[in-house]
Amino acid sequence: MSAAQKIMERIEALAKISDEPGQITRLFASRAMRQANELVAQWMREAGMTPRMDAVGNLIGHYDGQKAKAKIFLLGSHLDTVRNAGKFDGPLGVMLSIACVEELYRRRIRLPFAVEVIGFADEEGARYQTACLGSRVLAGCLDERHLRRRDANGISMAEATKFLGGNPAQLKAARLNPKKLIGYLEAHIEQGPVLEERNMAVGIVSAIAGQCRARISFIGCAGHAGTTPTRLRKDALCAAAEFIMAVEKLAKDTRGLVATVGEIAAWPGTGNVIPGKTRLSLDVRHIRNSIRHAAQAALKRAALQIARGRKLRCQYEAVYETAAVNCSRTLSRLLGQSVKRRQKQLARLPSGAGHDAAVMAGITPSAMLFIRCKNGVSHHPDESVKLRDVQVALDVLNDFILSLGEKHGLTAAAKGGRQHGSTS
Ligand code: GLV
Ligand code: MN
Ligand code: MN
Repeated sequence: MSAAQKIMERIEALAKISDEPGQITRLFASRAMRQANELVAQWMREAGMTPRMDAVGNLIGHYDGQKAKAKIFLLGSHLDTVRNAGKFDGPLGVMLSIACVEELYRRRIRLPFAVEVIGFADEEGARYQTACLGSRVLAGCLDERHLRRRDANGISMAEATKFLGGNPAQLKAARLNPKKLIGYLEAHIEQGPVLEERNMAVGIVSAIAGQCRARISFIGCAGHAGTTPTRLRKDALCAAAEFIMAVEKLAKDTRGLVATVGEIAAWPGTGNVIPGKTRLSLDVRHIRNSIRHAAQAALKRAALQIARGRKLRCQYEAVYETAAVNCSRTLSRLLGQSVKRRQKQLARLPSGAGHDAAVMAGITPSAMLFIRCKNGVSHHPDESVKLRDVQVALDVLNDFILSLGEKHGLTAAAKGGRQHGSTS
């Protein structure tokens, strides 16, 4: 079996671990995530790593360098998913990273630095609407008040973290020491159509769009759907509808801006009762922070104005924000050389999706490799990646890690290594 086939098999195995039967849903600190961490830890061991779980539930596999106190280069992506997800968003990057270390182990190569593979516990934020929990703990920028947030079933983030085997009291101590880090590389499906259109298996990410998420509630008054005249109603769902249209209009009118209301709940949620309360999510993104900030402010004003006009109350809670970041030029240049050795042309593209790399860039140089996906589809069960593109991505990672090793003093003799057993 080739290394790429093994990656695909592992991705299939992970896809079976879900919180909801018949679909892939693996939320932060859920039963499925606990099971996934156990399985991935086993694969890390097979690849010569020593796995550990940190205080928030990130799974980290350590592969020793040539010296005991060597600096660390990080590889990885996330193991959580959105609801009804595809198989590749997150897991592909983790599996490629493990396979890359497995190849070093197979060839008995030790680099001048240690390599750690991270399976981040939460990137999507599907359970608590606060994305990148895992990387924010490692980067030391998590607001600990988030631990009090509750999911739809009333379980606090602190309780969930304990269930996963983490320790909410130790989050600060879980921060990685930037002085010990060399950098971070994340491989990820593109989640868009550019590579497919340009007929390329992989590409390099130039920058990652900034994003902010908010939770908005409109509070009106529930009442009888048959007896309350329209002019006397305080219908919270109508206010939400007006707001959603305002979100779409602003996105249409602002070049490069995307804004989404992806979640909405209405209470009491009965056909013959006027909705008295609604709660919705808002997600706003742009590659330029100033444009995103302006859009965010405009939408907050719009929500308050809509509520005022309808004599409702409005609560606006900002729950998450990451700035747009440029990927590390040094790492991207090295990565670009590895891509060019495997593929004629080099594509550089920005990422509209958020990634742990955007958070990790706050403590260490970070770069990303994108892998082509079918029709650019993602956050959907139809996500699909070709086996041969996975092989190209792995070849690029293998080449990159040795090139980085050489930059840090890896000799040709050490690079030759010795074979012990075969994975392909
Ligand atoms: C993560 O996938 C995001 O960009 O929402
Ligand atoms: Mn992802
Ligand atoms: Mn995603």
